[in-house]
Amino acid sequence: MAIGVQSSEIHEHFNKLFSAILMEQQKISSIKPADEDKKELLTNNLKEYEQLKGRGFFYPFMASGRGHGPLVELIDGSIKYDLINAIGVNLLGHSHPIYIKANLEAATADTMMAGNLLSCLEPFELSKVLINAVKASRLKHFWFSCSGSFAGDTALKILWQKKAPNYRLIAFEKSFAGRSIAMQDVTYNSSYREGMPQTIQVDHVPHFNYKDPENSLKNTLAALDSLIEANGSTYCALTIELIQGEAGFIFGTKEYYEGIFKWAKAHDIYVWVDEVQSFARTHQLFAYQMFGLDEYVDVVTVGKVLQACGTFYTEELNPKPGLIAGTFNGSIASMNAGKAIVRLLTEGNFYGPFGRMKELETKFKAEFKKLSEGSCKGKLPYYGGVGTMLSFEVGDSSTETTNKFMKKLFENGIITFSAGKDPTRVRFLLSISLLDEQIKEIFSILEKTILEII
Ligand SMILES: Cc1ncc(COP(=O)(O)O)c(C=O)c1O
Repeated sequence: MAIGVQSSEIHEHFNKLFSAILMEQQKISSIKPADEDKKELLTNNLKEYEQLKGRGFFYPFMASGRGHGPLVELIDGSIKYDLINAIGVNLLGHSHPIYIKANLEAATADTMMAGNLLSCLEPFELSKVLINAVKASRLKHFWFSCSGSFAGDTALKILWQKKAPNYRLIAFEKSFAGRSIAMQDVTYNSSYREGMPQTIQVDHVPHFNYKDPENSLKNTLAALDSLIEANGSTYCALTIELIQGEAGFIFGTKEYYEGIFKWAKAHDIYVWVDEVQSFARTHQLFAYQMFGLDEYVDVVTVGKVLQACGTFYTEELNPKPGLIAGTFNGSIASMNAGKAIVRLLTEGNFYGPFGRMKELETKFKAEFKKLSEGSCKGKLPYYGGVGTMLSFEVGDSSTETTNKFMKKLFENGIITFSAGKDPTRVRFLLSISLLDEQIKEIFSILEKTILEII
């Protein structure tokens, strides 16, 4: 316990509280339907919350704060498999000891949030752990933000300052970069910026085409060359998700990415890899490490699994004083958890060909294969993905069918979310806490739901 006040009494209470919370959370051990007497509470709370927010929710979901591993309890007493984990945040699983410990330790501190002006131990220690994790690259600095979108804004400002007045940015079709005023222009889906003025100049080129892998690099390079022909040397950087999250987990090969990054370097264009969703979820801590692209990255943005967000950049890109600042780094508890999460993941057996991420991928793909060749033949046109980022299509792969399927799946005890359009996919952002018997149960619920809906 490095944070805040310490005494033997605090230690004693801490240990008792830690065990008591963990033991209580572990009582969440299997899925179950809602309690009759609590159903109204969920309906009423959601109705009121929808009024406050001014819009409805996709699922009738409000968490009770109780959950264990892949299981989460709702305030109506129902327990479900959480296979989306707050859109990818909760890699370790509900009530992981690291989360409980981080929260309890943070309670001994005198404040809630870490800040930029007057620093404290947590952002310092998390920064050390993070910079150590990228030591094979040229990344030397890390700047905290309070969202993945703001980490993107920071990245862009750093790149703009270095390359002024070359402000144009290259991004990829189907990309998702967040909701800030700048990142909404980087995001490909124009319906997310309806009525917005265009604030930055972004040109989108095709990403890897899994239906035409041989020609993917050639086609992307041709699109990149056309941009230079049209706009000359006006670009600061190229930003890319190596595993495109909101597109339904589309990704290329090492050769594809190397081809693009070599092109960028030859044109004096910086390489910014957006790992907000892919961080910690592939076969290495960073997807760029899985593809062996360490030498190319100039900027990397992260968020979600880290429980904190921020921007890595090289020495050369370190901005002038005044460009980046802000009140908060993040909460003390989040930074404390982030440090423990990176340590756990890098010191344990989670990555590489025999690590936990690959193991989960293999187990899920084997179950999908069984379904698609057996009882659900013709109803499961696609499954795939990497590590704990897996997706599949059902029926005609339309948004309408997929939404109907996901809502039934929710009723049957599994929470997922969609990604992509034409095709729309069902997306899993798994936690590493899944037990084999739970995977079996998940697939029997999936089978039942596919047969009910498709
Ligand atoms: C690849 C990617 N970049 C950026 C973001 C934006 O992060 P945030 O929602 O924390 O602002 C997301 C969020 O889903 C993302 O998936």
